Amino acid sequence: MSRYQAMSKDELSQELTALRQAYHEKKALGLSLDMSRGKPSAEQLDLSMGMLDVLKSTDSLVTKSGIDARNYGQLEGLPEARQLFAELMGIEPDEVFICGNSSLNMMYDTVSRGMVFGFPGGTKPWGKQQKLKFLCPAPGYDRHFAICEVFGIQMITIPMTPEGPDMNLVESWVNNDDTVKGIWCVPQYSNPEGITYSDETVRRFANLKPAAGDFRIFWDNAYCVHHLTDQPAHLLNLMDECKKVGSEDMVIMFSSTSKISFSGAGVAAIGCSRTNMAALERVIAMQVISFDKMNQLRHVRFFKNLDGIKAHMEKHRALLKPRFDMVTTTLWNELGDLEIANWTNPKGGYFISLDTMDGCATRVVSLCREAGVKLTDAGATFPYGKDPRDRNIRIAPSYPTLDELQKATDILCLCVKLATVEKLLEE
Ligand SMILES: Cc1ncc(COP(=O)(O)O)c(C=O)c1O
Repeated sequence: MSRYQAMSKDELSQELTALRQAYHEKKALGLSLDMSRGKPSAEQLDLSMGMLDVLKSTDSLVTKSGIDARNYGQLEGLPEARQLFAELMGIEPDEVFICGNSSLNMMYDTVSRGMVFGFPGGTKPWGKQQKLKFLCPAPGYDRHFAICEVFGIQMITIPMTPEGPDMNLVESWVNNDDTVKGIWCVPQYSNPEGITYSDETVRRFANLKPAAGDFRIFWDNAYCVHHLTDQPAHLLNLMDECKKVGSEDMVIMFSSTSKISFSGAGVAAIGCSRTNMAALERVIAMQVISFDKMNQLRHVRFFKNLDGIKAHMEKHRALLKPRFDMVTTTLWNELGDLEIANWTNPKGGYFISLDTMDGCATRVVSLCREAGVKLTDAGATFPYGKDPRDRNIRIAPSYPTLDELQKATDILCLCVKLATVEKLLEE
């Protein structure tokens, strides 16, 4: 039982008065702080500024493989860029398709292609089928869910466990229901809980026996090199596991340098089997003559190889780790004894996930907003924006300065206390 739950109504009322007083004082400061979106800070972006100098007007922009990066051609990407992403994604260069600047864009396009043209293994395009479902491990990434919503795909919530999505449920849906066409996965340092799928979970994914031939796993490994400790989480390679059992057509991987180099001006890639690649090429060839190979070349010349990316990510870690520590330490100091909330202490990724007492998250987010602290909307981490227990809040510590973050986290803790006491008094 939490300390608040052990209080009498009178004691709670007194606590409420004190908390309201403290809240009004904070509100009077007129702050404007944002902990809502996982954006890198300006200092993080500065780390990649050297990339703007690696291509000079006097340099040859013909690559080692003999391709002029300035011209049309090489739809699937520069061989050097495919090599770099192959290392990053743990697959073969000819399984990599380098696209534009955003992996989310590629995910949207992949679903859109499924709707219009279908996938190898299917009988007709998804859009011509009666019912469509996607499995949505939750808490999860709101923009994945938004893609399903925009295409009218029914979302089935799959609870997350410390090992990844509940695989008993995943297997039972995928293996028995041919209207289940996909599942969203952020397998390493998941958004927002920072969970890395266990070996067992990855193997169970590879061994799925989908009822639908056109079922695809959307493997969004956005945080594959985004470690916050010197003991990175280990993720088994899904493509390797799939190849062992011949199920590699089932997986489509996504990656980008959005949180490695520049957000919105990085390079994104799809990783998939050669069968999927051939289908992809046929459609993309009608869409575009070639993607931005100058940006691909900039990335190749700046990072050189996976070791170059890893060394660069160490610099990100040095900037991010103190921010994460500040939030978790403040949460612990302010809320630890009260036992009215739980939060994650992630080993990587971009978020801290906070669970309040049931029924308090919406109130916490709105109290914070009124006091000048913007958080992601309560419910956003669940399909249709509805958290059935109204308790999950996603905290993004990367963007604010340390000073702003301290102020914002203090207010957040105060709002958690206030919303909890209000709730207990209501009951
Ligand atoms: C899990 C996940 N995937 C994808 C993205 C977006 O990546 P991109 O900028 O490559 O579209 C984000 C951004 O927050 C994310 O958290």
